Amino acid sequence: MNSLLHIQTLDPTRHDRANFDCGVPELNDYLARRARKETDAGVAACFVATETEGGSQIVGYYTLSAATITRTSLPEILVKKLPRYSELPAILLGRLAVAADSHGKGFGTRLLYSAMSRSLDASTEIGALALVTDPKDAAASAFYGRFGFQPLASDRLFLPMRDIKNLLSAR
Ligand SMILES: CC(C)(COP(=O)(O)OP(=O)(O)OC[C@H]1O[C@@H](n2cnc3c(N)ncnc32)[C@H](O)[C@@H]1OP(=O)(O)O)[C@@H](O)C(=O)NCCC(=O)NCCS
Repeated sequence: MNSLLHIQTLDPTRHDRANFDCGVPELNDYLARRARKETDAGVAACFVATETEGGSQIVGYYTLSAATITRTSLPEILVKKLPRYSELPAILLGRLAVAADSHGKGFGTRLLYSAMSRSLDASTEIGALALVTDPKDAAASAFYGRFGFQPLASDRLFLPMRDIKNLLSAR
């Protein structure tokens, strides 16, 4: 349960992207074929987890990108306290997945906390109101809901940076 996880920037020369299998073909394919191109293009930053330092076997990954939230998609109670920009800055957790044979070991939680921590740090340098994500199905929504992610007007979920700060300091 408490095995060590090393989370680092994807290194295409070392990390074995082709054999990662989280049980969702689209997320496997993203890591195998698109993650490198998107990081090279500056569209996403990709972080992978290995169980050994310097290891090549990926047990999980997530991506982060700059994003915006449309003001009107936010809950009324939050909007009232915000400056009147039609688009507000956020960070997108584009993808998060754990290898199927490692599900249920707490790795998803640890990757999510790593993504939250990285996002909070980044938001102190470049303003960002919240972490947002687009869950692929109801089960993924339920997973994020456990950490306090709330629905925006669309299918997107969001977690305000203020809540992330509280979650991280309560750990
Ligand atoms: C969703 C996913 C990342 C969870 O990873 P994991 O390592 O198995 O999660 P954890 O072991 O940290 O589980 C944390 C908690 O969430 C719960 N949980 C895990 N997957 C869940 C799911 N799909 N739906 C609801 N709850 C879930 C666990 O039961 C656990 O609860 P507990 O602490 O009470 O035991 C993993 O199942 C996965 O990679 N799925 C395929 C890709 C995917 O759906 N990604 C979601 C983003 S689109």
